[in-house]
Amino acid sequence: MHALTRVAAVAALVASCSAALDPSKYVQYSTVTGYFLQDEPDTNSSTFDYTENNFGLIKRNYPATNGLSAKLTQWQKFKKQVDVLNAKASADTVYKVLFLGRHGEGYHNAAESFYGTPAWNCYWAELNGNETVRWADAKITALGIEQAQVAHDFWQQEIDEQKIQVPQSYYTSPLSRCLQTAEITFSGLDLPAKYPFVPTVKELLREGISIHTCDHRRSKSYIEEKFPSYVIEADFSEDDELWNGVTKEVPDAQDVRSKKWLDQVFHEDDSTWISVTSHSGEIASTLRVLGHQVFSLATGAVIPVLVKAKFLPASEKPPPTPISWTASSHCTSPPKTSIESKDQGCRCTGSKVTTPLVKVTNTNTAGPTSYPGPYRRGI
Ligand SMILES: *[C@@H]1O[C@H](CO)[C@@H](O)[C@H](O)[C@H]1NC(C)=O
Ligand SMILES: *[C@@H]1O[C@H](CO)[C@@H](O)[C@H](O)[C@H]1NC(C)=O
Repeated sequence: MHALTRVAAVAALVASCSAALDPSKYVQYSTVTGYFLQDEPDTNSSTFDYTENNFGLIKRNYPATNGLSAKLTQWQKFKKQVDVLNAKASADTVYKVLFLGRHGEGYHNAAESFYGTPAWNCYWAELNGNETVRWADAKITALGIEQAQVAHDFWQQEIDEQKIQVPQSYYTSPLSRCLQTAEITFSGLDLPAKYPFVPTVKELLREGISIHTCDHRRSKSYIEEKFPSYVIEADFSEDDELWNGVTKEVPDAQDVRSKKWLDQVFHEDDSTWISVTSHSGEIASTLRVLGHQVFSLATGAVIPVLVKAKFLPASEKPPPTPISWTASSHCTSPPKTSIESKDQGCRCTGSKVTTPLVKVTNTNTAGPTSYPGPYRRGI
């Protein structure tokens, strides 16, 4: 390479790194379509099976692989295409591939089916469990374990047959169902030594925070004890300071939170291939922030997204969206019926209250005015 060109190339690289690391930059996200079936308007998410469709990667040629004579798998070609997108991107732009995985079925999912959604929302979900099962910070059921095993086997198959680029870093929600799902999915895979499965536990990846006890996380000490190989991000509070049992996070507030964790990851992690284990509501919110079409995931399912992030000057930052949490009422005994509507539409036989049915330690019932962070990865 010509000396001068090399200087320019290094300068461009430095510029792109510093743009990415400058926390004052406003990050604008978009989903790059044309690569995955999940981005096509005619793909039906309720029947789509990621394991039957190579994670949804569309069979096609890319500018980066046109005319290449080497026999490459579709995922190898896609990797080359992503590399070229990044190499040719302007200094303020970066492309990453996110694998967003939903946890396997939890005891709260099973209980919602058992009691029916109205009775679940209006009463049962506000308890820690019934006589036989616990659903506060629910663990995964036998079916949930099976679903995570399916994800594990499919990743191994993709590694063997497709030579897929494996995640270079891993993140998970702090709720037990995700900690467990990530462990079953990625432990024991044939991973390169360079990219081991050492997930970072991220507060902001948790499920939309409602008054349901399944959204109440356990302590940092509990997570450390049960998942000693996981890294917990810096500044993670010992106790759950967000769930209060009285107010819930509205969708706009959740989207503010989703953008915040995306910003943290895009500012501090230079990996291109990233795995995230989270929840249906939180993944739906993340997809909204990424400008992805609505695509709901079954328990245990995974969706890849090719994300383009542009780091804009702070002056381009829109005014902040105020965060509002709203009170949510429920019944003190199982309701006869309820309707899906504002305020949960609970029609109680007994009293309707906003006071929690379980013991609550966080008494900030107004909800946060901003989300905690910035967090840093512990590695
Ligand atoms: C998607 O599939 C489900 C289940 O077969 C069906 O009920 C639904 O109508 C389909 N949606 C569309 C938009 O075709
Ligand atoms: C508790 O809930 C589960 C549903 O998850 C149900 O299978 C079980 O029968 C319930 N136990 C009682 C005592 O009702």
